[in-house]
Amino acid sequence: MTASACSLSFELAPGGALRGELTVPGDKSISHRAVMLAALAEGETEIDGFLEGADSLATLAAFRAMGIEAEGPDQGRLQVKGVGLQGLREPGQALDLGNSGTSMRLLSGLLAGQRFASTLIGDASVSRRPMGRVIDPLTQMGARIKATPEGRAPLRLLPAEQLVGIDYQLPVASAQVKSSLLLAGLYAQGETCVTEPAPTRDHTERMLMAFGYPLQRQGNRVCLRGGGRLIATPIRIPADISSAAFFLVGASIAQGSDLTLTQVGMNPTRIGVINILRQMGADIAIERPRELGGEPVADLRVCAAPLRGIAIPKAQVPLAIDEFPALFIAAACADGETLLSGAAELRVKESDRIQVMADGLSRLGVEVEPRPDGMLIRGLGAAGLLGGGRIEAHGDHRIAMAFAISALRATAPIWINDCANVETSFPNFADLAAGAGLQITELRGE
Ligand code: S3P
Repeated sequence: MTASACSLSFELAPGGALRGELTVPGDKSISHRAVMLAALAEGETEIDGFLEGADSLATLAAFRAMGIEAEGPDQGRLQVKGVGLQGLREPGQALDLGNSGTSMRLLSGLLAGQRFASTLIGDASVSRRPMGRVIDPLTQMGARIKATPEGRAPLRLLPAEQLVGIDYQLPVASAQVKSSLLLAGLYAQGETCVTEPAPTRDHTERMLMAFGYPLQRQGNRVCLRGGGRLIATPIRIPADISSAAFFLVGASIAQGSDLTLTQVGMNPTRIGVINILRQMGADIAIERPRELGGEPVADLRVCAAPLRGIAIPKAQVPLAIDEFPALFIAAACADGETLLSGAAELRVKESDRIQVMADGLSRLGVEVEPRPDGMLIRGLGAAGLLGGGRIEAHGDHRIAMAFAISALRATAPIWINDCANVETSFPNFADLAAGAGLQITELRGE
């Protein structure tokens, strides 16, 4: 069953606090890349901490459809038998990537260099998302990709004669586009270079290096040459900071909270949420910093603290790009105004996250001004409380979880519709959150 085949809503009783210790599931971005590179590597890769969410499972299913044998996943453990860069087989059917934009964009690059044709499809949300940003540079590399006239999925990839490396300046800061081009670059003649306007998550680069693939990085520019080899290596995946973010905000806004999140990924290109929350006055201690499989991790202890509104520094935007739904809830509970700008990308995520969050926050009694590239939020202050009501998540997992934790500071029950896609990134969210103190009930229907 796809994640959205059965409807799910959340019912939240107001109030409560988050306490104790918990580990959120494995990082989604890293899980996708682990499957992709393990499949293209020579030898068998053992992955630990794999996210068993619908998005990363869609990537895994796509590789199985291309002949990859894999055992698991079972409690985050997955063994992938790599077939080498030239070993994938033509899939017998279209590859259905569900809700996963990351799978679609990264696979476009990876499949552009294959000797067989393939078709990539996804759900209604993925089919609305802009794909021109990967199609244009991949076409410059010699890829043959057919999309809808608006540049959207379904995407049909035809075998190219020979990809050639390009030197590409990314117009928007996007790790998905950067990664797509690097994956195509594995199959290209000569050098593929990507320069980004601001640093974005670098998991592809780190993992390519872990698999022994030579790569040059200088400032915001990364280059690789095609025709190398990937050699299997064990991969350990940290807990996803994007999932931890809901608890960082929840514990910050709910009086009496004292929560520890263990083994959270602390890659410098992902920690914008911590930087922003700390600037707002959050009490987050970084404990036991260490390395896990080439990625920095730490335990995060977060206690309730009065938050103040800030102008979010533009440089933090790409480093917190998935965390704004949660951060908007923090802003709603802060003292004074919070202004986000330079974040137009939020309008083309799983939903239009500026408009959908603005609608939900208004419903809860918060004054907001959505803007083309961000939002102004007038916080209710340290003693202020949100109202209750019915919120639409529009099938966006992060909107659903953000409003779920907002109930910790509400005066009345909150119902959130269209939450089934929480399954894409955080399948046990409701159980873990309830264990920590959120008063959440899942309501399932057909
Ligand atoms: C991702 C990159 C980001 C992020 C997405 C995951 C990735 O997208 O929003 O959830 O794994 O590379 P963009 O590259 O579009 O910013």
